[in-house]
Amino acid sequence: MNHYFITGTSRGIGKALATELLKDETNFVTGISRTSSIEHSNYIHVPLDLSIPGNIEKVDFTIFAKTKNVSLVNNSGVLGDIKYLGTLSDQTIIDTINLNFTSVALLCNSFIKKFHGFDGEKMIMNIGSGAGTSPVDGWSNYCTTKAALHMLTDVITLENKKKGVSNFKVYTISPGVVDTNMQDEMRKVSKENFSRVQEFIDFKEQGILNDPNVIARKINYVINNKNSFPDVSVSLKNVEV
Ligand SMILES: NC(=O)c1ccc[n+]([C@@H]2O[C@H](COP(=O)([O-])OP(=O)(O)OC[C@H]3O[C@@H](n4cnc5c(N)ncnc54)[C@H](OP(=O)(O)O)[C@@H]3O)[C@@H](O)[C@H]2O)c1
Repeated sequence: MNHYFITGTSRGIGKALATELLKDETNFVTGISRTSSIEHSNYIHVPLDLSIPGNIEKVDFTIFAKTKNVSLVNNSGVLGDIKYLGTLSDQTIIDTINLNFTSVALLCNSFIKKFHGFDGEKMIMNIGSGAGTSPVDGWSNYCTTKAALHMLTDVITLENKKKGVSNFKVYTISPGVVDTNMQDEMRKVSKENFSRVQEFIDFKEQGILNDPNVIARKINYVINNKNSFPDVSVSLKNVEV
């Protein structure tokens, strides 16, 4: 059995991924987000606000005795308020950093500690973004937290190498532009707060946005073909399904 712990399974990419994985009856998914929208015999939901750091210790990484592979997919994420620095509230900065980065670091720490002596295959997959490597105006919190997440993944990879751990694959996935609630939010912002807003309106109108179900199939392909993806960073633009 393969056990996946996935954050943000209530909608968008996380829901599509959990749904895709649940097509295989040897997969079990624990979903974590504030709301739940999946009903399946191999799924349980942990209702949690991951922007509150004190909540992270409530995530219980208990698995079945027959589990052969265990994975953590850190997918929950928000843009936060899209505005220039100097006009943001302190609270939105704190909340966005807590969800997009602090929760990921705490969950990775807890997962690595818990499965230290686990003999099967382990995987951490962090859902990153192109915005983690190139700046976008109005997105300071999103860009910086995604950049931190990319670096966190690189450091875990390095530490696994130093420890001689070979049964543990770590990835940052850049999904490209995907037709989810997050994109809806981007298109509502004024040009003063986000100069590229028209470009994102055009993505939707021109049908350029990716279907979350296709993105989920690509992520599942990476999971099932890890030997073909030796690098830490994977851009789904280069994955064909
Ligand atoms: N869409 C894109 O174009 C795109 C591009 C690059 C990267 N990404 C990344 O892909 C990931 C998924 O995004 P998406 O596009 O699927 O967005 P989405 O449709 O808005 O879904 C976001 C998910 O995060 C969860 N979430 C939000 N706040 C949370 C909180 N406080 N605690 C726990 N969970 C929370 C939501 O669940 P609840 O509201 O139920 O808590 C939801 O399931 C994100 O990390 C995003 O940065 C998206």
